[in-house]
Amino acid sequence: MANERTLSIIKPDAVAKNAIGEIISRFEKAGLKVVAAKMIRLSEENAGGFYAEHKERPFFGALVDFMTSGPVVVQVLEGEDAIAKNRDLMGATNPKDAEAGTIRADFAETIDANAVHGSDSVESAEREIAYFFGNDEICPR
Ligand code: PPS
Repeated sequence: MANERTLSIIKPDAVAKNAIGEIISRFEKAGLKVVAAKMIRLSEENAGGFYAEHKERPFFGALVDFMTSGPVVVQVLEGEDAIAKNRDLMGATNPKDAEAGTIRADFAETIDANAVHGSDSVESAEREIAYFFGNDEICPR
């Protein structure tokens, strides 16, 4: 297992539910460390750039609208197998398919407001972390 970093976003629906602490607690209990974090309100340009690979998909406009609808908490998580571990903790993209006990099963209701984002590969994690954080904002522990 490799020591990895992954980008996590607590999305506007979960922030509005006041679930930031409970979600971060799940990461920490699973052995992941928060090595960078900030709360921001994404602009349309920020959100569109972040999800650029999905530009041609039918839900792109809805996704950008949702991600700009309120503040998000963007974090870098570090730990053994962090990318897969975070995806396991999150559960399936559609909360209806998410296993019991996962973040999306517990905090999300619909596929378009699904509580959290997590990088899906080493390459995505590198790109997504650099999208939001400079090296001087990441604090290895
Ligand atoms: S995944 O997990 O990234 O492979 O999922 P994918 O199906 O490719 O979806 C990419 C992101 O788009 C979001 N999504 C949607 N938003 C709004 N409406 C609909 N119907 C929809 N379907 C998928 C999905 O939550 C993914 O966002 P992130 O932030 O990566 O989880």
